[in-house]
Amino acid sequence: MNAQMDWGMANRLSKTIKPDGHCFYLAMDHGYFQGPTHSLEQPGKAAEPLLPYVDALFMTRGVVRAVINPAMSPALILRVSGGNSMVGKDLANEEVTTSIEDILRMNAAAVGISVYIGSEYEHQTLMSLARLVNECSAYGIPVMAVTAVGREVEKMEPRYLALACRICAEFGAAVVKTYYCQNFEKVTGGCPVPVVIAGGPKTDSELEVLQFVYNGMQEGAIGVNLGRNIWQNESPVGMARALQALIHEKATPQQAYDLFLSVKQGGK
Ligand code: 5RP
Repeated sequence: MNAQMDWGMANRLSKTIKPDGHCFYLAMDHGYFQGPTHSLEQPGKAAEPLLPYVDALFMTRGVVRAVINPAMSPALILRVSGGNSMVGKDLANEEVTTSIEDILRMNAAAVGISVYIGSEYEHQTLMSLARLVNECSAYGIPVMAVTAVGREVEKMEPRYLALACRICAEFGAAVVKTYYCQNFEKVTGGCPVPVVIAGGPKTDSELEVLQFVYNGMQEGAIGVNLGRNIWQNESPVGMARALQALIHEKATPQQAYDLFLSVKQGGK
C-alpha cells in the first residue's frame, strides 16, 4: 500500500483487497438497470448464504437499505451510477446517482461507477468518474471504475479493454473492473492500478468460469466481481466456496470444481 496514502483510504482499501493482495466481490447490482433479474428477485435472500465467502458486496443503496443486515461482515461497495434501463434508448447514458453524503452515511468501503468509452456518452461518463474521484478522494473513499460495454459485446477484446482500463486509471480509479479476454496480460499490463475481472452471462459449465478466473489472475488480475455465474448457478454456495478457494487459497480450477461438487452434493 502506498505510504503517502491517507489512512482512511488505506483502511477502506484493506477491507476490499485482502492481505494476500486478492479480492472476491459479489456483484448484485444488476437490478439498477435490469429490474428483478432472474435469481435476484429477492436480493436479500440470494445474498445471505453467500456473504460468509466474499470480501465485499456490490449493490445499490436502495437494495442495501431494504434487505441487507447492517451487521453483515463483508465490506460494502456501493454502485453509484445509473440512469438507464434494459428497455430504454441507450445503456450508456449514465450519471452519478448517489451523493457523497449518502456514500459516507452508508459507510461504503468503496464505490463503483460505469464508464462507456467509445460510446455516445463517453465524455459524460468519464467526467462523472472524474467528479466522483474528486469528491471521494476528499473523504478517503476508493472508486472502482467499471469498463462497461452495454450491448456492444464485440468490445470485449484486448485493445479496447486495455484502452478503457488505462483511461480509468488515469482518471484516478483505485481499482478497475473489466472483462476477461484473450491476451488479458495486455489489459493488466497497461493498467497501473489493480484490475478485477467482471463476469458476464452465466456460462455452460462451472469449470469454464473457474478456468477464466484462474487464467485472469495468472495474467495479472487481483480477483473478481462476479454475479450471475454465482447466484444463477444451481448451487450458489458451491460456486462462492469454489471461487473463494481459487482466489484466496491457491486452489487450481479442478480443485475448486471438486469443492463446488462436494458443496452441491451436500445440498447447498
Ligand atoms: C452490472 C455490473 C455487474 O456488477 C457486473 O457485470 C458483474 O456481474 P456479472 O458477473 O453478472 O456480469 O456491473 O452492470
